[in-house]
Amino acid sequence: MAEQEFVVTPWEVRGEVDYGKLIRQFGVSPLTQELIDKIAAKAGYLHPFLKRGLFFAHRELDLWLKSYESGVNVVLYTGRGPSGKTHIGHLTPWMFTKYLQDAFNATLYFQLTDDEKFLIHPEHSLSEVESFAYDNLLDIIAIGFKPEKTKIFVNTGYAKTLYKIAIQVAKHVTVSTAKATFGFTDSSNIGILFFPAMQAAPCFLPQELEGKDTHVLIPCAIDQDPYWRIARDVAPKLGYRKPAGIFSRFIPGLGRGAKMSSSIPETSIFTDDKPEDIDRKIWNAFTGGQPTIKEQREKGGNPDICSVYQYYYYLFEFDDAKVKEIYENCRSGTLICGDCKRKLAEIVKKFMAEHQRKREKAKDLIDKYLIRD
Ligand code: TYM
Repeated sequence: MAEQEFVVTPWEVRGEVDYGKLIRQFGVSPLTQELIDKIAAKAGYLHPFLKRGLFFAHRELDLWLKSYESGVNVVLYTGRGPSGKTHIGHLTPWMFTKYLQDAFNATLYFQLTDDEKFLIHPEHSLSEVESFAYDNLLDIIAIGFKPEKTKIFVNTGYAKTLYKIAIQVAKHVTVSTAKATFGFTDSSNIGILFFPAMQAAPCFLPQELEGKDTHVLIPCAIDQDPYWRIARDVAPKLGYRKPAGIFSRFIPGLGRGAKMSSSIPETSIFTDDKPEDIDRKIWNAFTGGQPTIKEQREKGGNPDICSVYQYYYYLFEFDDAKVKEIYENCRSGTLICGDCKRKLAEIVKKFMAEHQRKREKAKDLIDKYLIRD
């Protein structure tokens, strides 16, 4: 497949992503075993997302770890663009961020970019994206971040503070850089042209708020990297450290190949899905199975292209022996798709019931996390 045949931007992921090529295109570094071991040693255990290679690349994670070791204040920064309901793909960087928060006892800054989603989606009104932001907030709180070390803000509710940093960033970013980095054109609105400065601002916010030398690490999926190129370019000009990053692959949707995306709801599992929705979506998932049970028994299936297998591998079956068994039994035809899907659906329903319980409790915790101007 030619390099051009897949596209990864903050707003669009198209085609079958070749992560090796993406590493070269974006100029990020592959995550090394040495770095993984250092994180696991600090955390006390190896996170399955590291073990399974869901997190696969970084920018200067080595320097961030050195900062930690030498006593520099290290913090975490991640976020969400509230364009609709939260899906299970969004939860993965947040679950991993919690692991890092616990490992390094780090303060977390969490940005909700209602402004971005208002500007980028012609169909969304400001009040709609604001209400998505407060809905998504419950999913974020449900992850269980330390309330005393977590500051969540919605851009339109924290603009006064962010704006002062954003205009400093914006002054150093030309329209041609913004066009080249984000694919803006002359018909892009001027709001979205400025927006990257708003997403870069929290890279420098901790230092401003905490008043000391601070090193930021951003855990997120790789689609957000263009923002960090801008932030890292500007950082030394403003006298800040360049933010480091640790980046994940995309959790696929339940269809063929594509990343899980809210725009294809039947192949996405949302955090408010009911058990029957989960059953139906997984039942209709794209698999590597044969058209009939007889053929499956004879020829076996192909887990390498199967969305259901990806869910076991990346999210729900972390016992190496068990995931190997699923793989081999699929290949040999011992395991048939119906059984494999039914078992996955049970696991996902249990996971979601637990998340929904915590999400309900989160309604009483908003004031412990949310900061406003
Ligand atoms: P958003 O809302 O598109 O995505 C939120 C987070 O989820 C990641 N992500 C995924 N991860 C795994 N599998 C998927 N299928 C998948 N889809 C999305 C995203 O990379 C992101 O980490 N502009 C941002 C909001 C933002 C932000 C940040 C994100 C503001 N500041 C700092 C990360 C870090 C956005 O629209 O994310």
